[in-house]
Amino acid sequence: MKHIHALLSIFAISVLMLSPTHAKDMSGNVIKQHKLSEIATTKIHPKVEDWEDPMICGGCHERQYKGWMGSMHSISFKDPIFQAEWAIAEKETGGQMLELCGGCHTPIGVLTNTVKFDPSLGKHGGFTAEGVAEQGVSCDVCHTAVGSTHASSPYYGSPGNNSLVFSPGNVKYGPIKDAKSPYHETEYSEMHTKAEFCGNCHNIFHPTNKFPVEHTYDEWKMTPYAQAGIVCQDCHMVPVETAMRVADEMTRPKDLKDHGLGGYAGMGAEQERSLVHDHGFVGGNAVIAPLLGVEGGEEHKAEAIKRLQSVASLDMNVRPLDKNGTYELNVKVTNERAGHQMPTSLTFMRQIWLEVVVKDQTGNVVMTSGQPDEHNNLPEGTVIFRNRSVDANGKDTIDPWKIAGFTEMNTIPPKGHRFGTYAFNTLGTFTVEAKLHYRSYPQKVANKLLGKGIVTVPAIEMASMQRSFDQRGRMLAEENRPEKVARADERLN
Ligand code: HEC
Ligand code: HEC
Ligand code: HEC
Ligand code: HEC
Ligand code: HEC
Repeated sequence: MKHIHALLSIFAISVLMLSPTHAKDMSGNVIKQHKLSEIATTKIHPKVEDWEDPMICGGCHERQYKGWMGSMHSISFKDPIFQAEWAIAEKETGGQMLELCGGCHTPIGVLTNTVKFDPSLGKHGGFTAEGVAEQGVSCDVCHTAVGSTHASSPYYGSPGNNSLVFSPGNVKYGPIKDAKSPYHETEYSEMHTKAEFCGNCHNIFHPTNKFPVEHTYDEWKMTPYAQAGIVCQDCHMVPVETAMRVADEMTRPKDLKDHGLGGYAGMGAEQERSLVHDHGFVGGNAVIAPLLGVEGGEEHKAEAIKRLQSVASLDMNVRPLDKNGTYELNVKVTNERAGHQMPTSLTFMRQIWLEVVVKDQTGNVVMTSGQPDEHNNLPEGTVIFRNRSVDANGKDTIDPWKIAGFTEMNTIPPKGHRFGTYAFNTLGTFTVEAKLHYRSYPQKVANKLLGKGIVTVPAIEMASMQRSFDQRGRMLAEENRPEKVARADERLN
């Protein structure tokens, strides 16, 4: 694949363009450092042992360790959905995707050149890595990161495609200015407190056509949250209840009254800190951690469900289109609390959709939409909030290495809304029930990647509401009306 060689030379160019300051750490010391881009071109590899096992960190940082264990970061390499996609990519490109995909999912495996592909493992083949490289985005991946090459990234200066620079060793880089540890040296790093830090991996552009396949960081940048200085860490490194307050009060956790997140950052610390960060990095994935049975996986699932149920609100109205009982129904979905589009990242794979049931006054169903069929597939016409991705020939594809564009963009912006619109016919009064669901992938994708009958992809109900209307489309009564919907309602008026 000559395309991919083009990628590597782009990376080489970006390395050559680095300013000399990149060879120094934050305090100006010249350091031993590793860039993925450099490794790819020069083939000089550090050793797996240069990074420490999270279990060692867990001895003193129990709270961070527990959260991280249950998180998607600890299993970003082992994740079977990821490995299956990666294996298909490896096969289809003749072995050109090892470093690109691995660069974020097992940065250490790629930096040390120890990750290997074995086509005989699993349905499509599988990957193996050694020691700490198996543990994905581990403590030392983040806390030995000393800088980023993003200023010279080919993607107009945004961070992405793991543009981090690493300096593994005894110095741990973090957000505390006067940290003292009996085990390791510490160094204050402003980078760790910024959204750009996360953006290094949470922005993915196609290596050759440069298409921004995933763009969570870029989405965030255009939101009122970014304007208010609210970063990824403020929602994803605190409990869900705190993140809800952050979004409602538009205030960073450290400035919230009585946030109750203080404590010791590690065993042997000399003083308590006013805010110690959660390391569960809870998003929407409630499938993989429990599937792999990792420690803390069930807690992670519960938090992910709680997070999904805290994001969106529903509202609705109906309008008679004629005097014969034809109505237009508009269901309004508002992204109340996600700091980026809803859904974000794999917007071409994640599904957030509306299920709607209309019943007449005798309880007969007159219209349904968005109810999964017996194969757990969504019917034609379902309103799905997602992007539709195509390859260079305009053919539908969800394979990241083929995506060249989006032909439909229907994700919901932060504090913004979209409508699902329906038509139906009924006589007399009627009732509308609407539910918003989330699932990580369509059933067809799970069947293709994991094999048929391995998992039934679960749907998580994010929000629901029910309303009754008279013939003129005026609201009669309402049930199950949560408080946050009332706020959305006020905005509608
Ligand atoms: C995905 C990156 C990432 C991983 C993985 C990670 N951390 Fe952190 N950690 C951070 C960031 C970012 C902060 C600072 C957050 C802020 O101040 O906004 C932080 C803060 C800390 C702090 C300072 C105290 C605090 O909580 O604010 C300690 C100690 C720490 N991490 C230890 C660990 C340990 C131990 C592990 C592994 C069990 C780990 N981290 C894994 C990103 C990470
Ligand atoms: C720039 C970093 C980066 C690169 C490069 C990257 N990924 Fe990812 N990948 C991510 C992040 C971040 C997520 C999590 C997004 C989320 O869950 O919302 C993810 C999630 C996934 C998932 C979903 C896993 C699940 O359980 O739902 C799949 C599949 C995946 N990646 C495949 C790939 C493949 C294949 C490649 C190479 C062609 C690749 N990734 C390259 C960062 C990256
Ligand atoms: C023997 C106990 C011990 C072990 C083991 C340990 N730490 Fe620490 N660490 C501490 C203490 C104590 C602090 C200081 C906390 C403070 O001052 O509030 C600290 C601070 C930190 C900080 C904050 C640095 C800053 O300036 O913000 C990070 C990050 C960190 N540790 C990461 C790690 C990682 C990663 C590992 C595993 C490779 C690890 N620690 C192992 C005790 C330990
Ligand atoms: C070295 C790359 C890297 C860095 C840095 C990084 N992440 Fe991730 N993150 C990943 C990968 C890879 C995954 C996906 C794992 C999977 O789905 O298999 C992920 C998953 C996540 C998820 C879970 C998504 C879901 O679907 O539930 C959240 C939330 C998240 N990251 C937030 C953050 C935040 C916040 C930061 C910054 C403090 C950060 N990440 C820094 C690589 C990274
Ligand atoms: C105001 C709070 C807030 C901020 C700021 C925020 N997020 Fe999120 N994030 C959420 C919520 C709520 C969800 C769950 C709903 C969803 O999936 O869209 C989420 C979901 C995610 C997911 C999982 C998406 C999926 O469904 O696969 C990832 C990955 C993620 N965020 C990363 C980030 C990164 C990276 C940043 C910073 C650039 C960030 N978030 C900023 C609240 C926030």
